[in-house]
Amino acid sequence: MVESFKIDSARARLVFDSRGDATIEVELKSGKTTARVAAPAGKSRGKREVEYYPDNNAAEAVSVFNSVVSKRLAGRDPADQRGIDELLTEIDGTGRFEKIGGNAAYATSVAASVLAARLMEKQPYEHIASLSGQKPQIPMPLGNVLGGGSHAGEGAPDIQEVLVFPAAVDEPLEAVKAVVAVHKALGSLLTKRVPGFTKGRGDEGAYSPNMTNEEALAAVKETIEHVSDELGIQLRMGIDMAASSLYSEADKQYNHKRSGKTLDRRGQIEYVGKLIEEYGLRYVEDPLQEDDMQGFAELRKSYGGTTLICGDDLLVTRAELVKEAGKIGAVNAMIIKPNQVGTLTATIEAAREATSYGIAKIVSHRSGETCDGVLAHIAVGLGANLIKAGIMGGERIAKANELLRIWESSRGSLGLSRLA
Ligand code: PGA
Ligand code: ZN
Repeated sequence: MVESFKIDSARARLVFDSRGDATIEVELKSGKTTARVAAPAGKSRGKREVEYYPDNNAAEAVSVFNSVVSKRLAGRDPADQRGIDELLTEIDGTGRFEKIGGNAAYATSVAASVLAARLMEKQPYEHIASLSGQKPQIPMPLGNVLGGGSHAGEGAPDIQEVLVFPAAVDEPLEAVKAVVAVHKALGSLLTKRVPGFTKGRGDEGAYSPNMTNEEALAAVKETIEHVSDELGIQLRMGIDMAASSLYSEADKQYNHKRSGKTLDRRGQIEYVGKLIEEYGLRYVEDPLQEDDMQGFAELRKSYGGTTLICGDDLLVTRAELVKEAGKIGAVNAMIIKPNQVGTLTATIEAAREATSYGIAKIVSHRSGETCDGVLAHIAVGLGANLIKAGIMGGERIAKANELLRIWESSRGSLGLSRLA
């Protein structure tokens, strides 16, 4: 007989994320076993994401949880992930988590998987892998080293993130060391190069200097060449253009405020192409606004042989959008952010769709984070190729550290992702 478990009690509380914004934390108990997960929050959100909170109010979500959701969870089996997620969707009833809040759904859904894993005496990633049917593996860290856009102040580049990742390593420790080394070396280079640079950082711990896109890309390129030589590890470079944040629907233009450039659709496609060629970018996330899937397909066709053309706001972790993109070859990589869609079950469906179209999976943090390391388990359990979780700052390094613990506990049974 299959052993079954049950949630004895569920409660939510208000806590704070790395930006100091209120967020929801959900705690599930079964006997003496507890699982607790707090939700992250994005700032450059896709318009097709679920609603985070009823009336945009985290405190309201906590109160709805404690008065309505909590008693419906009591007695349910935390290992029945689909059942829990269907229950959350049913209690909400809006299709977008407008009543209970997508972040309440996220925290509950992930906490259920962690509780089930603990009760089964498994690691969360092992349980998530058995739910997802994906082959677990250790992803390479994709680290944000320099940024601007909506994550930083005036004067920083228009590109939201300049990112680095190792192509292949023998163990995750080397990968983490390498991205950390780039962040450190970049800090020294910027101190020498940018007048008045105070080592200021944006929301994700990436440096936010007063620089143009081109100066930023040149600085990171120089840094990774230097660190690659020093460590003997091949490092790649990429960007998150977060183009929906630059786009104005009213005049159909991309407004690059810092550089004073205004580009139409064609201009933006050509600009991204030029950056890919000039700086050897191997990763480009959201090069175009979230409604232009055809534009993604154009870039994928021209550069997809060597560069990951990745959809974040474009796909918002929704299986049906991944399928649509897969069919027309719009992307060869996707961002997976479970709180974009609200439940682990929906996240797993999106990841499966990605695998079936040969789309690389990149499990990602949000710009507002907590010190929870569970994202590393989700990444490993979904067989992600990359984990995008920032580098510096307690809430970012927590994910890298958890990856190292997972690697150690797996005693060599997990493979490492390799990106040529
Ligand atoms: P976020 O954005 O601020 O919505 O988390 C991060 C990203 O665009 O990847
Ligand atoms: Zn993004």
